[in-house]
Amino acid sequence: TGLFTYDPGFTSTAACDSAITYIDGDKGELLYRGYPIDQLAEKSSYLEVCYLLLYGELPTAAELEDFGNRVTRHTMVHEQMHYFYRGFRRDAHPMAIVTGVVGAMAAFYHDSTDINDPVQREIASIRMIAKLPTIAAMAYKYSVGQPFVYPRNDLDYASNFLHMCFAVPAEEYKVDPVIAKAMDRIFTLHADHEQNASTSTVRLSGSSDANPFACIAAGVACLWGPAHGGANEAALNMLRQIGSVDRIPEFIARAKDKEDPFRLMGFGHRVYKNYDPRAAVMQESAREVLSLLGVENNPTLQVAQELEKIALEDQYFVDRKLYPNVDFYSGIILDAIGFPTSMFTAIFAVSRTVGWIAQWKEMIGDPQKKIGRPRQLYNGATNRDYVDIRQR
Ligand code: CMC
Repeated sequence: TGLFTYDPGFTSTAACDSAITYIDGDKGELLYRGYPIDQLAEKSSYLEVCYLLLYGELPTAAELEDFGNRVTRHTMVHEQMHYFYRGFRRDAHPMAIVTGVVGAMAAFYHDSTDINDPVQREIASIRMIAKLPTIAAMAYKYSVGQPFVYPRNDLDYASNFLHMCFAVPAEEYKVDPVIAKAMDRIFTLHADHEQNASTSTVRLSGSSDANPFACIAAGVACLWGPAHGGANEAALNMLRQIGSVDRIPEFIARAKDKEDPFRLMGFGHRVYKNYDPRAAVMQESAREVLSLLGVENNPTLQVAQELEKIALEDQYFVDRKLYPNVDFYSGIILDAIGFPTSMFTAIFAVSRTVGWIAQWKEMIGDPQKKIGRPRQLYNGATNRDYVDIRQR
C-alpha cells in the first residue's frame, strides 16, 4: 500500500529503544549497560550481571548481598509442580518441559498478572531468575529418572545449578570451582543480546499486558529453534558427526552448496559481521575446562578449532562475513561438564531469562509503550463470492 515499510525478518527495523545491551556487529563488540562482555565474563559473576541488567548499574557489596538473598528466597518451586513434570513422557525434550512449566507458573502466581503494579513486576522478575535453574535441573533429573534435588541456597548461582543437576541421594557432590566458574561464565555470556528473536517474542507477548510468566514461556519456545538457541545442541551434534579433522572439507563443501540445506551450526550471525566476542571467551573457557579435566586432546575441540580455521580462510565464509558465534564452543564445555546435548538449550534459557525480564520491564515501564502490531503486504485472493460446497 506504500503506507509502511516492508522488512521481512526485521533486518533493518528498530522496534524499540533500549538502554540495556549494545552490539556493534562490525567491530564484534557487546556491552551490557556499557560494560564490555569480556570484562564481565572475567571479573564479574552472573548474579552481579543480573543486577546490572535489571537495574542499570553495578551493585555495591550490600546491594549484591541483598539481591542474592532476594533471589535465593525464591529458588524452590511449588511442590505441586512435581505433578506437572510427571505428566510428561520421560523422553520429552527438556525445552518442551521448560516451556510448559514456565507457562504453568502463571497459574501459581495470580498476582503477577497485575503488571501495572511495580511491586508485582519486581517479585515476578526475582521469581523467574530464582526458579529457572530449578525448573531446568528438574527437567534433567526427570529425563534420567533420578529424584529431584532441592536447591542449596548456601551455594552460588552456578554451583547450585550444578548441584541440582548432578547430586544424587546418599552421595556427596562437590562442585569444582573451575567448573562452577565456567558454568557461571556460560550464564553471563548468554544473559542478554538485545532484540534477538526470543527477546522480541517476549516484548511482543508482553506488549498486550499478558502475564509475565506466560511471556517468558513464549521466549523459551522461540529460543528452542536451531537457528537461534537450539544451535548449541545442533553445533555439538554436527561436530560429533564430522568426527575427525579429515572429514571437515566434506562438511565445508556441503555448507557452501546452495542445493544442500546443511549449514555450519554455530556459525554466522544476523548482527555480527566479525568474530562474536562471546565465542572468543567461550573458546578460552573450553580450553580451561578440558585441561582441568585432563582431556586437552578432546577430538570435538580439535574438530571445532580446525573447522573454524578452514572456514575463516574460505572465500565463501569471508565474503559473507561468517564467524563462529556463541553456540560454537559452548557445547564443548557443557558436554565436558557432563550435560547431554538435549540440555544445552535449556541452559541457554536459564541464562537468557534475566535478559528477557530486563527487556520486558523496560518495555512495561516505557511511557511510549504500545501493543506490538506488525503490518503486512497482503498478496492473497481479492474479494470474491462464497461458493456453495455442491458447486465446488
Ligand atoms: N553456514 C553456511 N552458510 C551460511 C551460514 C552457515 N552457518 N549462515 C549464513 N550462511 C549464508 C547464507 O546461506 C546466505 O548465503 P547467500 O547470501 O549466498 O544466500 C548468507 O550466508 C546470509 O545468510 P542469511 O541466512 O541471510 O543470514 P541471517 O542473518 O538471516 O541468518 C543465522 C543468521 C544465525 C540464522 C545464520 O547465520 C544461521 O543459520 N547460522 C547457523 C545457526 C546458528 O548458529 N544460529 C545461532 C546464532 S547465534 C545465537 C543465537 O541467536 O541464539
